[in-house]
Amino acid sequence: MNLNGTVAWVVGASSGIGAAVARELVSRGARVAISARREAQLADVSGGRMLVVPADVTDVASMAAAAARVRGELGPIDLVILSAGYWQQMRATDWDADSFNRHVQVNLVGMSNGISAVLPEMLARQSGVIAGVASVAGYRGLAGAEAYGATKAGQINLLEALRIRVAGTGVHVTTVCPGFVRTEMTAGNDFPMPFIVEADAAGRAICDGLERERTEIVFPARMAILMKAARFVPVRMWVALFARAVRDPGRSRDPRHVQPSAQPPT
Ligand SMILES: NC(=O)c1ccc[n+]([C@@H]2O[C@H](COP(=O)([O-])OP(=O)(O)OC[C@H]3O[C@@H](n4cnc5c(N)ncnc54)[C@H](OP(=O)(O)O)[C@@H]3O)[C@@H](O)[C@H]2O)c1
Repeated sequence: MNLNGTVAWVVGASSGIGAAVARELVSRGARVAISARREAQLADVSGGRMLVVPADVTDVASMAAAAARVRGELGPIDLVILSAGYWQQMRATDWDADSFNRHVQVNLVGMSNGISAVLPEMLARQSGVIAGVASVAGYRGLAGAEAYGATKAGQINLLEALRIRVAGTGVHVTTVCPGFVRTEMTAGNDFPMPFIVEADAAGRAICDGLERERTEIVFPARMAILMKAARFVPVRMWVALFARAVRDPGRSRDPRHVQPSAQPPT
């Protein structure tokens, strides 16, 4: 798609990947609206070049109102990037049901609320692109990511099903699966993050993929190859590969100490 002149709405744009994508879209000539909860951060990202529309993805009415405002001020939405996300490491010894629920609300329900805010109008116009930011962490189960990975796998499945459902209507669905990206989300991670890229590079990779009308945008290349190959590893072998790191009796039983080698890309 030609991003120049496109009306783009980036959700989850007050920091990280969403902010970088919004800046990159502006530099490629798009007319951009940005949403998240923190209005001051949105204004910083905007620098006066974007429409700032605060919204909470967990609230379907808030998302519908935000989309209506974007349409009212910029015109029909050609492209939505759903990048809002939440990550917290789970611990088997202290299962946090509230945290699990928060992952579901922000990552999975939030993506559904974003879709519902734009899909009817895109179908009516027979035009539009919905790009959902999932993660390669949704490809396989990894210790510590029981909540995050489950919602990322859910997002990948949701986007694939929707892609099939809207095939031929003029509406297109893109699944974005980043590996590690240096953002607020990963700032607190105390484990190795192989092949990590900067947020600006993620913004460029996503915009390049959108311009090339990719169905899937997976980056960086080395993480894409590794995690796509991981999907073909038999379950027993996958468990054997990682279970030793989790159970290693020579180290602390505290999951914070035993999980680093088993950590997924967030
Ligand atoms: N960083 C990585 O390594 C990585 C890797 C793979 C995938 N991802 C995915 O990429 C996406 C962006 O993550 P990031 O790394 O850029 O993290 P980030 O810097 O923490 O950004 C997360 C964004 O989501 C927004 N958000 C969170 N809860 C929200 C809510 N209830 N309503 C509206 N907005 C909400 C935040 O804004 P407010 O707090 O202002 O609401 C923020 O703008 C996420 O879906 C994440 O899972 C990240």
